Amino acid sequence: MNTQEIFDLSIKTGVENDPRGGTGVKDVLSQNKKDYEDLPKRKQAEYDKEKFVNPYSDSRFLVGDRKRKIKRVLVGIDIGVGEVMLANELERRGKKIDLIIAHHPEGKALARLHEVMDIQTAVLACAGVPENISQGVLHDQLENVWRRIMPVNQYKSVMAAELLDIPMINVHTPADNCVWRLVDEYIGKKKLKTVGDLIEALKEIPEYKKAAEIHAGPSIFSGDERSYVGKIVVSGMTGGTSGKGSEKIYERMSHYGIGTEVAMHVGEEDREEAIKHYINIVIAGHMASDSIGLNIIMDKLERAGVEIVPCSGYIRHSRNAKRKRVSGTRAVRRA
Ligand SMILES: [Fe+2]
Ligand SMILES: [Fe+2]
Repeated sequence: MNTQEIFDLSIKTGVENDPRGGTGVKDVLSQNKKDYEDLPKRKQAEYDKEKFVNPYSDSRFLVGDRKRKIKRVLVGIDIGVGEVMLANELERRGKKIDLIIAHHPEGKALARLHEVMDIQTAVLACAGVPENISQGVLHDQLENVWRRIMPVNQYKSVMAAELLDIPMINVHTPADNCVWRLVDEYIGKKKLKTVGDLIEALKEIPEYKKAAEIHAGPSIFSGDERSYVGKIVVSGMTGGTSGKGSEKIYERMSHYGIGTEVAMHVGEEDREEAIKHYINIVIAGHMASDSIGLNIIMDKLERAGVEIVPCSGYIRHSRNAKRKRVSGTRAVRRA
């Protein structure tokens, strides 16, 4: 596979697992085209035309040769300058890295993170919260997120990769869509009574099991082991940033019969609001959840003969092999 093919496959996998469904994704792409056409000519020049084909503005081909043949990739949750230097060092030790894949957005992908947040509306709609409610709550937060990200030095690691001539892409929401679907479908098949049952069920997923061993596994942030789970929503897994855009959503969740939220991470305000409205929060584990999403995509690369080198918190678990094994921190040390 070459770099462009790897990026395209990641986006395609994200679309296949998108909570908005195929039609919802098509609507986003055609709306982007319409927005572009409505712009004055001078603003059209600045418009990111990749938005006509890629519905995830937080996932981009960041730098490098799009045709380069890829045999080995370095994959990490966060790719800073340190990880780029690590790729360079691995090459020096005879383990050439052909491509770096980051999960969390860098460069131009970070600047547009807030544009994928409408996915959260679709996730909550699946659990019975009307779209107008979650859209309204979310809308207030979009500009806040943008204002928080805008001043960040977004190009440090991308520039380092460019200087060292290592292609770099990032795959954020496509991977998060994959973990959302896996966890949502997995929980949907289980008969769970309490939050304790939910925690134990999550720990049967290899990445969460591994995370629990390093004290980063599923944890209760609101409620306790004996709390009834009620209706579960996996709402803090995909859609850009953490949570549902605003802590105000918890009141609405309780109105629409949701008992427990499963998320990657939430803020303190979210927790306080959830407690107030008797909603349980289970934090499945941030790095472990991001790893599940990446693993679903990396398994496809592995099947195409690409070697995956995990770093930066990424817990690699292949679902390709008959004998499943979890690596991750061990692999980094070995490198
Ligand atoms: Fe993520
Ligand atoms: Fe994340």
